[in-house]
Amino acid sequence: MRSISLFSGVGGLEPSAVSADVLCELDPECHMVLSRRFPESRLHDDVMTLSPGRADAIFGGWPCQDLSVAGLRKGLAGDRSGLFFRMVDIALEANANSIVAENVPNLLRLDQGQNFALVLEALRRAGFSHITWRTLNARQFGLPHQRRRVFIVASEIPEAAWALLRPIDSSRHRGRIETPIAAGFYWTAGSQGINFSDGYSPTLKVGSSLSIPSPPAVFFDDTVRMFSPKETVRLQGFPLRPFRGLESKAIYRMMGNAVAVPVGRFVTDSLDPNNQKAGRPENLAEIPRQDSIFEDLPGAVNWPAAGYSAPEAVYEFPDPVHKSTLCTSLERLIDRDDNSTLSVRAATGLLRRLERSGKSCPEDLRFALERAALATARV
Ligand SMILES: C[S@@+](CC[C@H](N)C(=O)[O-])C[C@H]1O[C@@H](n2cnc3c(N)ncnc32)[C@H](O)[C@@H]1O
Repeated sequence: MRSISLFSGVGGLEPSAVSADVLCELDPECHMVLSRRFPESRLHDDVMTLSPGRADAIFGGWPCQDLSVAGLRKGLAGDRSGLFFRMVDIALEANANSIVAENVPNLLRLDQGQNFALVLEALRRAGFSHITWRTLNARQFGLPHQRRRVFIVASEIPEAAWALLRPIDSSRHRGRIETPIAAGFYWTAGSQGINFSDGYSPTLKVGSSLSIPSPPAVFFDDTVRMFSPKETVRLQGFPLRPFRGLESKAIYRMMGNAVAVPVGRFVTDSLDPNNQKAGRPENLAEIPRQDSIFEDLPGAVNWPAAGYSAPEAVYEFPDPVHKSTLCTSLERLIDRDDNSTLSVRAATGLLRRLERSGKSCPEDLRFALERAALATARV
């Protein structure tokens, strides 16, 4: 299979067997990681100047800034998230039979679903008449990291689209600890909830616009500190070696942007014929057709977390995520040699915000924060 990866980042949305022929990414620091991970692939910088050549498949997690809850929410009309349409054009130029795409779950909700209706419309018009989507969490794939993203497989080959909805073999993942001793939380929050997460990390995010690295914090035994760059690489399922020598700030940014490796592989491997044997999912429920969905946008639709847009109708795919399959093994991933502590400023700032907001914080974490503030102040 010949493939082209767009918006490659550090390569989370890549198949397990073959590397993409071309990797297209603007960020030079990402290029360093990509060239270490995929030495065979050709690197290109800007999607706007790419001449793709012939390819069977296009992969791409296109920029989410205009779609995410935290952003300005211009949607696909925004300069960055509008690059989705460039991805579709490249697929047409390459004469590809499939596109595999990724973005934040807010894509399904923004503007009462109009942006996602536009995505389906553009893909359908480009000739990809079988389109499935599915919201997946990295915790379903043995990683103690709450990271929900929506994945799309749009294809001329129905079996390729259906394969995205195949069962996830969670028995392969050693991920569940019933009484975890480590928890993650947002130390920069406090005015809103800190997202205390027993046994896993809350979602890694890209640093603020001031590019101050702010990964979540981890709390275990008597320790409270930020996740180290190495730990964030593990939380996303990447190997450590390609990131050697990079600044912490760059690694935090890359991990905040990336698709978790086992999730990206599960999704892209939908194009592997070995994964296409299950056929069309049986339990699809038709979403009542609104002409406006496809003919005369906008159409307000409450899109389900997973579904299938077929030539004749659009269906919901009921995809319950069982708690028992969600990973809570954060303690296995912790670097015990890291003796750092949350700074006095960070600890006191968080305590102050918690006091003001009245948001909840487990007692033992509150003690640890008070200790961190006092102990560091004495030094
Ligand atoms: C959401 S991230 C994708 C992350 C990637 N899926 C991964 O696993 O690391 C979007 C990426 O698109 C890149 N990007 C933005 N505009 C671009 C452009 N015009 N051409 C190529 N890459 C671009 C950004 O630098 C960023 O790394």
